[in-house]
Amino acid sequence: MTDRRSPWWQDAVIYQIYIRSFADSNGDGIGDLEGVRTRLGYLKKLGIDAVWFTPWYKSPIADGGYDVEDYREIHEDFGTLEQAEALIREAGELGIRTIVDIVPNHVSERHPWFRAALASRPGSPERARFWFRSGRGPRGDERPNSWDSIFQGEAWSRTTDEDGRPGEWYLHLFATEQPDLNWNHPDVRAEHEAIIRFWFDRGAAGIRVDSAALLVKAPDLPDIPVHIAAGEHPYEDRDDVHDIYRSWRKVADTYPGDRALIGEVWVPDPSRLPLYVRPGEFHSAFNFDFMSQPWDAEAMSTSIQSTLDAFDAVGAPSTWVLSNHDVTRPVTRYGREDTGFAFARKRFGISTDLELGRSRARAAALIVGALPGSLYIYQGDELGLPEAEDLPPSVLQDPMYFRSAGVDPGRDGCRVPLPWSGSHPPFGFGPKGSSPWLPQPTEWASLTVDAQEPDPASTLNLYRRMIRVRGETSLRGKPLKWDQSFGAGVVAFTRGAEFLCVANMAGAAVPLPESHRVILASSDVVGTSLPGNTAAWLIA
Ligand code: NOJ
Ligand code: CA
Repeated sequence: MTDRRSPWWQDAVIYQIYIRSFADSNGDGIGDLEGVRTRLGYLKKLGIDAVWFTPWYKSPIADGGYDVEDYREIHEDFGTLEQAEALIREAGELGIRTIVDIVPNHVSERHPWFRAALASRPGSPERARFWFRSGRGPRGDERPNSWDSIFQGEAWSRTTDEDGRPGEWYLHLFATEQPDLNWNHPDVRAEHEAIIRFWFDRGAAGIRVDSAALLVKAPDLPDIPVHIAAGEHPYEDRDDVHDIYRSWRKVADTYPGDRALIGEVWVPDPSRLPLYVRPGEFHSAFNFDFMSQPWDAEAMSTSIQSTLDAFDAVGAPSTWVLSNHDVTRPVTRYGREDTGFAFARKRFGISTDLELGRSRARAAALIVGALPGSLYIYQGDELGLPEAEDLPPSVLQDPMYFRSAGVDPGRDGCRVPLPWSGSHPPFGFGPKGSSPWLPQPTEWASLTVDAQEPDPASTLNLYRRMIRVRGETSLRGKPLKWDQSFGAGVVAFTRGAEFLCVANMAGAAVPLPESHRVILASSDVVGTSLPGNTAAWLIA
């Protein structure tokens, strides 16, 4: 339970900046640190407590920067280390904390360690920091085990020896350009602790830990068994992974000012998620179970309750996420027949009712905004941006698209640069005449920040009010209690004696209690009834 003195990360509103697509200061089409600096006023006005930057490090950008070449250098397209330090400071002066993204499972194929490994012989100490193995079959031309890449295709690529002959294979759970580190190696552990210190020393208030459940592999790299007991998958969610985070927590605890570790934890068995936020491990972890739920009152409330139970059991706050840079934008997803989210189920050309999707996404924002715990907002969701679904194939960059042989559209559609102003691309993302790295749909003219600013009913103003009212209503420390009086199809709960959140997920309107007055609603509330696909906050 939280109280007034509780640390910031327990109920913070955290805004995710996908830096390539936030704001481009110099017109090269790529968002950058200076672009963020000049928009700090926007973030302040939005009312958020912290920003999380997706990786801003030196990288060949084979996977949107999650292929890191140097964890202590900023990518030259984004700026310099000095600029990053200044930005952390400047944001801090405005009361905005900074969370950086650390990618421990893998590095870029251009990372000095991997280059050294390729230049060294099989069995060398340089190769021991990764997972190099001989191939199977008489010629060694079959992958060492049955593992597939999370991005589809095989999880192994074969190297070429100095003499031009095919050599060993190396493991990559993601793209070929992202070799997995061997976390049994002491260098790997020591290096990452040093990296964490590096960013805490520069004022980072928190660290988001990428792919946190994947680091530890079964040392003999067995094929994936047909029946797998909890904790016994050869690379997912193995028990030993917790040792790593216990040692990171000790590092975080040596710093003043409530530094936080936030795990990106996708686990096959959601009941194991709380293990990552036990005392002495992560401070918080993303909760993707809720994000993956369809637009259905029962599914959502069940997910909310099981999340609260699971996190409460270990004394950790819950987190709520509607989307991020990996998933379909909520406006699009909720406008489809299948409103749930699952990886590898994305397809081109699914029919979508964007108006319906937008009403639901706005309602969903009021649901998550009222839940106990911290809230993550992915940039552009506050503008109600839809997924950009008609990007020409020639501009697509995501390895998920290429590795599925073009069957899965990949994640570029939720990464299109933000529209700030004006009636044509680049919509103020960069200077006039510049071309954003992914083209913006021309229809986004009505969704720019400038277009939404004067409209009290805009999604931007709904988010601003939601964040402000959330802070003012002092929901802190007040547990959620379900209100079943509205019947099926409605998610309704109170926080304390006065606050009530009602979300009507069905089509027909439901009456609101006369004992309460509406203080915020995701669409117009006429009289005392709440239309379908609408949520409202009420006060007794
Ligand atoms: C999760 C990140 O959010 C995603 O964008 C990335 O591709 C994978 N981890 C691999 O680093
Ligand atoms: Ca730029």
